[in-house]
Amino acid sequence: PLVALVLAGGTGTRLYPASRSDRPKQFLPLGGDQSLLAETVSRADFADHVVVSTRPTFADEIADHAPDAEVVVEPAAKDTGPALVYATHRIAELYDDPVVVVLPSDHHVGDGFSEAMARGARVAAETNSLVAFGVDPTRPDTGYGYIEPGTERGDYYDLAAFHEKPDADTATRYVEAGYLWNAGMFAWTPEALLAAARDSPLEPLVDALDAGDTEAGFEAVDSVSIDYAVMERAREAAVVPVDFEWDDVGAWDALARVLNADENGNVALGDDPVFVDAADNVVATDGANVSLVGVSDLAVVSWDDRVLVVPKAEAQKVRDVVAELKAED
Ligand code: GDD
Ligand code: MG
Repeated sequence: PLVALVLAGGTGTRLYPASRSDRPKQFLPLGGDQSLLAETVSRADFADHVVVSTRPTFADEIADHAPDAEVVVEPAAKDTGPALVYATHRIAELYDDPVVVVLPSDHHVGDGFSEAMARGARVAAETNSLVAFGVDPTRPDTGYGYIEPGTERGDYYDLAAFHEKPDADTATRYVEAGYLWNAGMFAWTPEALLAAARDSPLEPLVDALDAGDTEAGFEAVDSVSIDYAVMERAREAAVVPVDFEWDDVGAWDALARVLNADENGNVALGDDPVFVDAADNVVATDGANVSLVGVSDLAVVSWDDRVLVVPKAEAQKVRDVVAELKAED
């Protein structure tokens, strides 16, 4: 069967202060009616089964957003590398001959999504390799992975190289060279993923899972994303180009792209702010009335008793604020 594996264990630090460690972005309705996680699960209807992967602290809350999904809880939060290896290993135990399609729960997607996922699953089953989905880049975003397409094989390409989150100059070069953004969605058979993981820093985890000792497996590996651990060193991988509307709603600048703007390019989440001579700003609040005068290209966020102001172009750096606050705890 086709199994959608929804990732919902991140803390969403770049969306601080709306996203907090006990209230991460996937549980928030960022612009839509439903939480990002509920939206992700409802668009996974192309699959026969839905499995949600999360960390222990969120385990109880998943059912509020995905009541019918199977939940796989990793024993320790160690980023998407260990999480995906564990969940995929579990899926191989739960279902016969599964093909897995990985869906992050922080995306905004448009029409054509289901067809593209079905195509990726087909390529994964046919080639028994790791399949990434490639989006045509529209800017040198440093928050994404970049994929160099290799030989064309009909409706997909061999994956020549994968580079996770390059610096700005390198990203500019990649965009000029025709590389694609990694959509963060993947398709694979358990066999293909576990073989690639055995060839990666996650090998001790795979061995421990085979031996039935999940906890020891998580203790034996460091926190690492699937992109760094497996995709950057994958030898057998393919990329399926996709052309549906796509955005990662992972940082405040993304709201400017997914919400409707006023005539000056300002967008707002929550109460209507007052804008005077202000353009291209993002304002998000859970109740506070915010006014912006004479400023542009800022994200201004007020949530709980916290306020954040950041140039939209530097929205990725909000991660550093959270790291700083944690260090002060
Ligand atoms: N179960 C589990 N455990 N899920 C996790 C964990 C974890 O420890 N950490 C993160 N996740 C989930 C998040 O909730 C999110 O849905 C998804 O994994 C991706 O994590 P992000 O932190 O949002 O990744 P990213 O956006 O920085 O980068 C990835 O996605 C980009 C596209 O959106 C990479 O794959 C990039 O290469 C890619 O371009
Ligand atoms: Mg993301």
